[in-house]
Amino acid sequence: LNNGLVRTPPMGWLAWERYRCNTNCAQFPDDCIGEKLFMRMADRLVSDGWRDVGYEYVNIDDCWPSRERDANGRLVGNSTRFPSGIKALADYVHSKGLKLGIYSDCGKLTCGGYIASGGNEKIDAETFAAWGVDMLKYDGCYSNETSRKVNYPLMGAELNKTGRPIVYSCSWPAYEGGLPPKVNYTELNAICNLWRNYGDIQDSWDDVVDIMNWWGDNQDVLIPAAGPGGWNDPDMLIGGDYTLSLDQTKTQFGMWAMLAAPLFMSNDLSKLEPDIKTVLQNRDVIAVNQDVLGVQGRRFIKQDSIQVFSKPLDKGEFAVAAFSTRTDGTPHAIKFSLNDLKISGAKFYSLFDLFESKHLGKYSTAEELDIYVDPNGISMFRASPISVENIFVEEVFETI
Ligand code: GLA
Ligand code: GLA
Repeated sequence: LNNGLVRTPPMGWLAWERYRCNTNCAQFPDDCIGEKLFMRMADRLVSDGWRDVGYEYVNIDDCWPSRERDANGRLVGNSTRFPSGIKALADYVHSKGLKLGIYSDCGKLTCGGYIASGGNEKIDAETFAAWGVDMLKYDGCYSNETSRKVNYPLMGAELNKTGRPIVYSCSWPAYEGGLPPKVNYTELNAICNLWRNYGDIQDSWDDVVDIMNWWGDNQDVLIPAAGPGGWNDPDMLIGGDYTLSLDQTKTQFGMWAMLAAPLFMSNDLSKLEPDIKTVLQNRDVIAVNQDVLGVQGRRFIKQDSIQVFSKPLDKGEFAVAAFSTRTDGTPHAIKFSLNDLKISGAKFYSLFDLFESKHLGKYSTAEELDIYVDPNGISMFRASPISVENIFVEEVFETI
């Protein structure tokens, strides 16, 4: 959607995968869906350096509204869990230099059974804008194909009419199977800023693999669908939760960067292991995700459970990632040349490993690379073109 927003993929934190619909504040005062949780995460985004590397949105998901609209027909936050109200929460989040996202649904109810916006698009869009909300995730439970065709564009139009810049995240294609002819990506990109194409991620490596495979298998549909202002969304980052290993966390994060995916963590920022935090704050990997061209990476090799993707970057650079779903416990080699990944434009590229932070040397596009990938791990590098003059200069220096 060309509304000036999210010209690079949005980054932030989203409650759903980790916190679900926990409304039991008596037993879980810090973790229930309420203002304390979102204020705590906003605090951590700032104090732990997340904001500084680009994580900007603090997003509420399901289960926030009260059971009834107010006397004026407006949505209100659950008064026990959001005693200060959503506007006050937005003000707090803004005071930290962050942005607030909220959630609703184009049916009568949200997926969790809370009141939603179907039939109340205008008043709800106005309410969100009046509160100072910066992003809306619009879900599709309690809808059908016909109502979605009307209600997704309708909410988009109402958000636009408020005059407040609000990023519009549509779950629409996920409800249509994610593929043409049921999904018209050209039309979708004219309506939404990002969209969930596929099923919900759970806290599971198998889900991460399933999603990466689906993205690779359907890349000819998905790559042209996305670009600055409109992004395919493979769902949240789950590193730092209960199940992914450090290598698996790197793989998900690296591949989401390669896919130009929105980067929304759903984890407890106050309980992250330092290693996990280092991975999710890797500026070189984030730079791949945030590259201004906004081109989604393409899979060129799928072999022995190792897949290799490349992503064109600005100024003739490329990002390359090889990930492995092997579980036999030793790093496995994969051989390929830059030519195999359609990397061209220069004869030589210098390669820089993004997770190891080290130079790998200079390679011609025809030269075979021998890359080792850890089980369930990823090897990721940036390939920068070397101009002939630079090669000459380098060689002169080497001789001296
Ligand atoms: C709703 C709210 C909960 C709690 C109960 C009280 O379910 O979502 O947070 O306030 O009402 O009955
Ligand atoms: C759907 C969405 C999830 C989450 C839940 C909330 O399943 O796809 O991302 O928002 O609803 O109930």
